[in-house]
Amino acid sequence: MQVARLAHETDFDGWRRAARELRAAGTPPEAVIWTIDGAGGLFAAASEDPLKVSRKTAAAFSVPKTFVDLAGKVILHRSDERFSLLYRLLWRLQGEPNLIHIASDPDVARAHDLERGVSRAAHKMKAFVRFRLAQDEDGEAYVAWFEPAHRVTEATAPFFARRFTNMRFSILTPDVCAHWDTRALAFTPGADPADAPREDALEEYWRTYYASIFNPARLKTAAMQREMPKMYWRNLPEAALIPELIAKAEGRTDAMVRQAPTVPSARAVKAALRNSRDAPYDGLAPTSLEDVAAGVDHCRRCPLWRDATQGVAGEGPARAKLMFVGEQPGDQEDLAGRPFVGPAGQVFDRALSEAGVPRAETYVTNAVKHFKHEKRGKRRIHQTPTSGEVTACRWWLDGERRLVRPRVIVMLGATAALSVMGKPTPIARNRGQALQLADQAQGVVTYHPSFLLRVPDEAAKQAGYAAFVEDLKLAWTLAA
Ligand code: URA
Repeated sequence: MQVARLAHETDFDGWRRAARELRAAGTPPEAVIWTIDGAGGLFAAASEDPLKVSRKTAAAFSVPKTFVDLAGKVILHRSDERFSLLYRLLWRLQGEPNLIHIASDPDVARAHDLERGVSRAAHKMKAFVRFRLAQDEDGEAYVAWFEPAHRVTEATAPFFARRFTNMRFSILTPDVCAHWDTRALAFTPGADPADAPREDALEEYWRTYYASIFNPARLKTAAMQREMPKMYWRNLPEAALIPELIAKAEGRTDAMVRQAPTVPSARAVKAALRNSRDAPYDGLAPTSLEDVAAGVDHCRRCPLWRDATQGVAGEGPARAKLMFVGEQPGDQEDLAGRPFVGPAGQVFDRALSEAGVPRAETYVTNAVKHFKHEKRGKRRIHQTPTSGEVTACRWWLDGERRLVRPRVIVMLGATAALSVMGKPTPIARNRGQALQLADQAQGVVTYHPSFLLRVPDEAAKQAGYAAFVEDLKLAWTLAA
């Protein structure tokens, strides 16, 4: 057994150094114990099996940037398995260089789960940090106490520095504290809640603001707690109001309902119906992919949400050059909350790998975000969405296109082509070429992986698959 000692919980450099040396020494993942050595020793072999690796050997090996980026995030997760999971992935990359692009692999999927947890924690931190005014020897400064779900404070602090450039602030957390003096960020060891001020004049401001935007008719307690989990409430001035506002919501809604109805004109009804399709969701266009993900899950623009487990938004880097659009989540995607992880996803992954397209560098989404199906006994049978459902859901796809701004959009099958092109676009006649899209991106239409799975004739299936791989290569070249 080798013992790899890291200096602290987020010691990414230490993990990289240790992992590189272990790999060069041929130490398999099951023979390594990862531990945090508060004393700061980066790496040491257990005494009965000392590790001797020359720096030269250790340095002569490189891994895809996608893996390094993923690892840099995963390491911020609080799960104890993170170091060994990452080393197992690193180890397997030797024999499986494309591993990191195989989203259906259990280790890759787990790493993405952890990465998503970390991204969510960073997002919640940006939303729920509340500063309170304090005084120190240099005058006024703002101080916040926050307990992030994962160790995201250092990674998220630059966001606050950009946002509050002219304001001196400290964000205190149990792991580490971030301080901004209007010029540079500094970090000190974790603190105690008692170090942060509790009440200030801003509290009243937050409470007034929150009470004024709270709409009792829209109260959905479960959704609200999902978006604003209880663990964050104790730091939120407005949270004190929540139980009371919820308790009063029913009465306020009844009062709204009892008010004398007014009858809108037929014209107003028509306009409202038209606008409810085309207008921004809740009056606001999504301004981030997190907004899209949250919005999709709560979307009621068509009835498909009723039978689905959850809305499935796209996933991938916010600045991906290449976007893939499928039809809608299938049975497994509906359960997992991620696009293309079921049987069609496996064909897709294989073809991407053969075309040399790294999935992790692309944005993968669907034209329709909820799983449309009918139940037959215990089975849920896929149903093709109607053009009305595609139109209703285009609101979200357009949001993703606007935010990601891909150079190339690949439409996987007829539903995707209908949504992206805005008109029926036969695949066989239009595939294999670049099409100009209205938003300056280029489009490539190609077969849907599920279609390839269903082709009965073996020769036709192989020809279709080869054409599919060629289309993916074309798209990647156009995007490069
Ligand atoms: N088919 C699709 O079109 N999208 C998915 O996410 C899965 C299957």
